[in-house]
This record gives sequence, structure tokens and C-alpha cells, in this order.
Amino acid sequence: MKNPEDLRSHRWYGGDELRNFSHRSRTRQLGLNPEEHLGKPVIGILNTWSDINPCHQHLRERAEQVKRGVWQAGGYPLEFPVATLSETFQKPTPMLYRNLLAMETEEILRSYPLDGAVLMGGCDKTTPALLMGAASAGLPALFVPAGPMLRGHWRDETLGSGTDLWKYWDDRRAGLIGDAELAELENGLARSPGHCMTMGTASTMTSAAEAMGLTLPGAAAIPAVDSAHQRMAAASGARAVAMVWEDLTISRVLCGEAYADAITTVLALGGSTNALIHLIAMAGRSGIPLRPGDFDAAARRVPVLANIRPGGAYLMEDFYYAGGLRGLLSRLTGLLHLDRLTVSGRTFGDTLRDARVHNDDVIRTLDDPVAAEAGVAVLRGNLAPDGAVIKHLSAAPDLLRHTGPAVVFEDYRDLKRRINDPDLPVTKDSVLVLRGSGPIGGPGMPEYGMLPIPDRLLAKGVRDLVRISDARMSGTSYGACVLHVAPESAVGGPLALVRDGDLVTLDVPGRLLRLEVEEGELARRRAQWVQPARRFERGYGALYSEHVTQADLGCDFGFLARTGGNPEPDPR
Ligand code: FES
Repeated sequence: MKNPEDLRSHRWYGGDELRNFSHRSRTRQLGLNPEEHLGKPVIGILNTWSDINPCHQHLRERAEQVKRGVWQAGGYPLEFPVATLSETFQKPTPMLYRNLLAMETEEILRSYPLDGAVLMGGCDKTTPALLMGAASAGLPALFVPAGPMLRGHWRDETLGSGTDLWKYWDDRRAGLIGDAELAELENGLARSPGHCMTMGTASTMTSAAEAMGLTLPGAAAIPAVDSAHQRMAAASGARAVAMVWEDLTISRVLCGEAYADAITTVLALGGSTNALIHLIAMAGRSGIPLRPGDFDAAARRVPVLANIRPGGAYLMEDFYYAGGLRGLLSRLTGLLHLDRLTVSGRTFGDTLRDARVHNDDVIRTLDDPVAAEAGVAVLRGNLAPDGAVIKHLSAAPDLLRHTGPAVVFEDYRDLKRRINDPDLPVTKDSVLVLRGSGPIGGPGMPEYGMLPIPDRLLAKGVRDLVRISDARMSGTSYGACVLHVAPESAVGGPLALVRDGDLVTLDVPGRLLRLEVEEGELARRRAQWVQPARRFERGYGALYSEHVTQADLGCDFGFLARTGGNPEPDPR
């Protein structure tokens, strides 16, 4: 246990130097008397609220509840507005800015007089960004997940965000619904504050955070608008204060076993493929060498128990009522590491005690899983020497072993221009190939990976094709989409060498992705290949392009993806 003089913030506020005098004076300027804050743990509340982010619209109010908890526990809360990464609105993709928010998080925690932190996020990249930065800063920190939005509704149907957006857009393109129906759908798809309520990247990563022990137990599935969410926020603020006194730093929670349990959790949820990239990046900050192969190995022994869209039938609201993540994890204790510490101060196993499942169709039993093996596979072969990923659970089964002729698109613009060209030589057996969409080429590895089915095939009833790219895919998307091909085409990965008509083999059971072109011909093409010009000449984009790593390494910046000390600022 720490004493007030041991607090990091004491160096700013407590001494007898000119600068300490100045800091106390300026805190009086903020309207506080010394007895209100001196000697108390200072808790930074890093809030990704913004007017542009519908998933976080409640976080401004929620920060007040966190502050309430901090005050009540004898701390001093300070809110910091940090960059919001709004999945829907930020272009070309918030993934370009994940590392920027991670850097901002780390440097705010390092440069201000903070003893601990509450991190508030949920919309896709905000969760890994905040946690990556906090892992590097190393203070006591816990995460307040934004919580999923309520179920969507249209007429008598339940709608899932993302998943039903793609589905009904395809229905409209196929002429099955018209503008009037689409207008109704626009009203019903997203009805409340909160992140996407399917098992997309947001639900996947907030659940992973809970499984790692970085939230209060049961936090991730609480709907954003439920009063339990307000109480969880206040309790998190109070807990952050206690963590400071206990010196419960984030590095004591983020051990290798926590990452292993995050992988198990993501797989049992049927979670987003984006989790591979984010967890690898987070592990890099913890000095733990996680690789895509770790996910593939785990996938063969972890069953999918969460019956949640896009792979299942229900939504996060149903999952919460069925027992939430604690319920699901209570069925997997044999695969988890129960003795490790969590931010609650209790062991992981202790936080799962008394967890119950109230609906066996939403959270399946081990005897009746959604799938006996998890739905993610890591592929290798001459087309992906450093790996590629497919979420085969949501793909047409007859495409999981397939050889077909390539139809190649140079980049997303080329794809949009030609995908419905009547002369495009595409059939149901074709393999659509999109390059120029990786970490550098995209830039930012946008979620282009669910390439659209050409209209004329849709009209014939074709709903899936083998699609290959160096892009990512939204966790709410589906189909036989091979993603994260590494190395990417923009740095000369083999995807750059594919030509129209080349045969490509996808063999998911064999974990193979092969270009059926002999090595001599590939060497000739490689010799002729010209590297595309870099997209950014200056600024953050240039920094990003010079330092981002490939998908198999988590797309972090090389200079951030390592452990090591930086000097503590001297506040005198
Ligand atoms: Fe924010 Fe989906 S758009 S989580």
C-alpha cells in the first residue's frame, strides 16, 4: 500500500519548490482548495467522446459518473478529451489513427500529474488504442467499455448493425426491396447510444478487455443505456482510486496468460478477425510475442459458444440478459487461466464465481456449441508467406476448398469502377483479388475485405465468392473473404504479382493459400514490379507510412512496439 507522499502526483503538488507552488496556485485557479485534492490519488479519465461519434454519445455523461466514483473513494478526477475514432465517419479508416490515439494516451498519462487512469472507449479501434497506450505508460488503469447499443428493429424483424446494413443493401441491389423499405431500415438499424451490438470489432475487443481483467467483472456486455452502465462507471472510478493505493499497475494484469485468455474468449465469441491485429499490437506493448499462428492453434480447441450475429442468431442485448461474458466464460474455465490478477484486485477465477447462464440458446453449452471449432483460420502459402486470415464460420461451406481464376483489382477505386462492368470476366467460380489495401497501400488497411458481389451474379442468386485482399474486414461482415495477406502488395508481397486468369487455390482445412503459377514466372514478374509511390509526403501520414508494421506484427509503429523505459518528467 502506498502513502500520500509516494503518489506520483505528489511530485507536482506536494513539494516545496517554485513549481510545486505554481501547481498548487493553478489548482486553486481551477476552483479547488488544497484539502479537496492534496494527498489524494489523481485519476485521469481519458474520454473518447465526440459529437461525431454516435457510439460514444453517452460518454460525456458517463464521465461524470466515473468522477462521482473517484470523489467518493477519496480521489481527484481529471477528465481529458482524447481523439475519438469514429468507425463510421473517419476516413480513409480509423485504423490509420489507432496508433495516434495510442501515442496520445501514453503521453498524456506520462506528462501530467496522474496516479491512475480510467479509459473510456468502445467503438472499434478506441479500445485497443487506449489499452496499447496505457500498457506502455504502465500506471494503474482500467477500462470502461461504452457498452453495446440496443437491438435494431424493422417491422417485425430484429436488426444487427453492420450485418443487416450489408444484407439489405445487397437486397436492394438485387431488386428485392425498394427505397421505401430502405428509408425504414435507416431509422431502425441504430436506435440508441452504444457501439455496434453484433459481435463486431467493438464487442469483440471490449469482451477481450474484460477477459484480460482490464474492466470490472461483467462490464463489457452491459447495454450503453442500461442504468447498470452508470453504476459500473461510478464503480470503475472508485476502483481506480483503490488500484493506485494498491499499486496495481496495468503491467501486473497484462501477463501472457491474460493474452492467451483473450484469444480463447475472442474465439468462443466468434469474434472479429480484427482482434488478431489488435491483440498482437497490445501484446507487443507488453513485451509478449503473440503471432497469428497462436490464434490458429487455439481455434482448433476452442468451441464457439456465443450464438451472436454475424455468425449466430442473437445480439449483444440478448447476450447480456443470458448472462453476459461471465456466463460464457464460466463454461470455459477448463481452457482459462484462473489464478491471474485482474483490476478488481481479485483473481480471474474469483470474478467468475457465481456466474450463471440463463439462456442456453444464446450462450451454448459445451455439448451443443454453435461450432465445435472456432471459425478463424490462418492460411499460408506462396500467396501469403507471412500469413492471411479467414473467418470461415461465416463463409459458404462449398468455397472452403476452391480453385478458381483470379479477377484482379489494383485498388479500391479500380474495384468500384469495374466491379459491375458487363465485360468483367467474372463467374461464380472466380476469385476476386484486391490489392493496394494493406497497412501502407490502403493506407491504414481499410475494411474493404468483403469485396462486393457483382450485380449480375447477385441477380442470379450468387451470395458468396472467394475474395482475397491485404485489407481488413468489419467484424460485422461475412463471406469467404481471405484478409490481412502479408506482406501486403504495396511492399512487394506476392499479391502484387497476381494477374487476371491465374488460378488461385484456397484450402481452409489445409490452411493453404496458393497462387498456381510456377516460381520462375513469379520471379520474372517480381523483377518487373515497380513499387507504388508513397501516399504521404509529410505529416502524420508520412510518419505512419515509415513506421507501421505488417498485419502479422499488429500494424503498430516499430518504435512503439517494444518495452523499455522512458524518463519520468521532472515537474520541478
Ligand atoms: Fe462504432 Fe460500430 S460504428 S462500434
